[in-house]
Amino acid sequence: MFKIAVLASGRGTNLQAIIDKIKDGYINASIEIVIGSKEGIYALERAKKNNIKTSVVSKKEFGKETSNEILKLVENVDLIVLAGYLSILEGEILNKFKNRIINIHPSLIPAFCGDKMYGEYVHKAVIEKGVKYSGCTVHFVNEEVDGGAIILQDIVNVDFNDTYETLQKKVLVKEHIALPKAIKLISEDKIQIVENKVSIKEEVCI
Ligand code: GRF
Repeated sequence: MFKIAVLASGRGTNLQAIIDKIKDGYINASIEIVIGSKEGIYALERAKKNNIKTSVVSKKEFGKETSNEILKLVENVDLIVLAGYLSILEGEILNKFKNRIINIHPSLIPAFCGDKMYGEYVHKAVIEKGVKYSGCTVHFVNEEVDGGAIILQDIVNVDFNDTYETLQKKVLVKEHIALPKAIKLISEDKIQIVENKVSIKEEVCI
């Protein structure tokens, strides 16, 4: 069975989408552990409700050793999924899990990404700029923040009357489709990386 670890920092709607898509048979995999970046986040509750093992590895407690502590908990998994995880992974985990860590970002990378571009800041910047399209990106994680190979993207219209809240809602709908789809493709070995670009061997239906 394909094994996943999910890292989260917030409410965990993307985690829920993965749980639901495993339950309905779309993804053939198991979530071995959900690791939270702090106590009390709703993502951990969602995991517990679904009998998934949880752990908390906080930067406050582990500082520069945070990524190494996480590595100790995930050594037997096939894929690490960052589902609204706000810390930056660094060091050994990036080597050991090269091309086996993915992240979901709420914009069309390379626009509105990188340092300090997370959560509502992304959508606020999109609205401020007046771009006509935004969306989400699932990408591999490497040393560069939001810089790994892009696996999937999907778009939404940005309407003149959109606020960052309405935009966030529209993008989340797309995220909940794209992230499980990327996991499915990887678990079925349908993803190849060629010169930092992803080639998808075969399309899967949603
Ligand atoms: C999502 O918008 C995701 O793209 C970003 O953080 C947010 C997490 O939302 N990385 P949730 O916790 O999955 O609801």
